[in-house]
Amino acid sequence: MARSASRANRPFVTANFAVTWDGRISTRNSTPADFSSKRDKRRLVEIRAPCDAILAGARTIAADNMSMGLPNEVLRAERVARGQPPYPTRVLLTNSGRIAPTLRVFEKDFSPIVIFSTTKMPARFRAALAGKADLWLHDSPSVNLLALLETLRGEYGVKRLVCEGGAQIFRALLTAGLIDELHLTLCPRIFGGVQAPTITGVPGAFLPRSVQLSLRDMEVFENECFLRYRVAPITP
Ligand SMILES: NC(=O)c1ccc[n+]([C@@H]2O[C@H](COP(=O)([O-])OP(=O)(O)OC[C@H]3O[C@@H](n4cnc5c(N)ncnc54)[C@H](OP(=O)(O)O)[C@@H]3O)[C@@H](O)[C@H]2O)c1
Repeated sequence: MARSASRANRPFVTANFAVTWDGRISTRNSTPADFSSKRDKRRLVEIRAPCDAILAGARTIAADNMSMGLPNEVLRAERVARGQPPYPTRVLLTNSGRIAPTLRVFEKDFSPIVIFSTTKMPARFRAALAGKADLWLHDSPSVNLLALLETLRGEYGVKRLVCEGGAQIFRALLTAGLIDELHLTLCPRIFGGVQAPTITGVPGAFLPRSVQLSLRDMEVFENECFLRYRVAPITP
């Protein structure tokens, strides 16, 4: 098994997306498109609940104005009963380091925020973000995703992480063999549009190799279908 696929020193990584029937996660220009039901939004929180950390890319955090919380008292109490802190750690990913300190995610301090970026992060962003988050700056053109996961496991005790997108970071993790499970909500909408992204981005280049999924759960509620897949490990 390739080193990147090994789970020995990294968290189990699950991912979660709502998709239209034609596989879109957003509209063109990556504007937020609120096309899933209240049940799907509850499910997103339920998927977060057992996780030690939530990961999102810079564009998703900005576009969706996320706070990355756990707005359900019962689920928070269950976490505490299991010995976890009430809220998962929030993990943000940016290569450029240009992540606005004014974003909503920084307004609440209910859980630690950890930012993985590169030494390209401009000094003024480092200064503004240092008091709000732990900064891990990789001295490479882009963040080393396996090292990121190993840091989360080793330094923050993260055993289970949910990646909530967007497409670019999901694709990067998937390509590196670092996604173990995928939750998809199939929504009764059709967007069309060649510039609307799918879970791996705007349709374009193939993945280096196709990824095999196996269906573990399927639940139909009203017009939506909730699917959970295991992702086959990459073999050399
Ligand atoms: N339907 C759904 O379930 C769902 C879920 C999530 C998101 N979305 C939608 O998806 C859209 C955003 O997706 P997206 O693909 O445009 O953006 P994204 O993946 O959220 O963020 C992309 C940014 O993340 C950073 N990044 C990407 N790969 C990286 C890597 N390997 N290492 C370090 N940093 C990396 C870069 O930040 P820098 O440019 O700062 O370097 C990049 O610009 C939004 O419209 C959002 O609403 C939908």
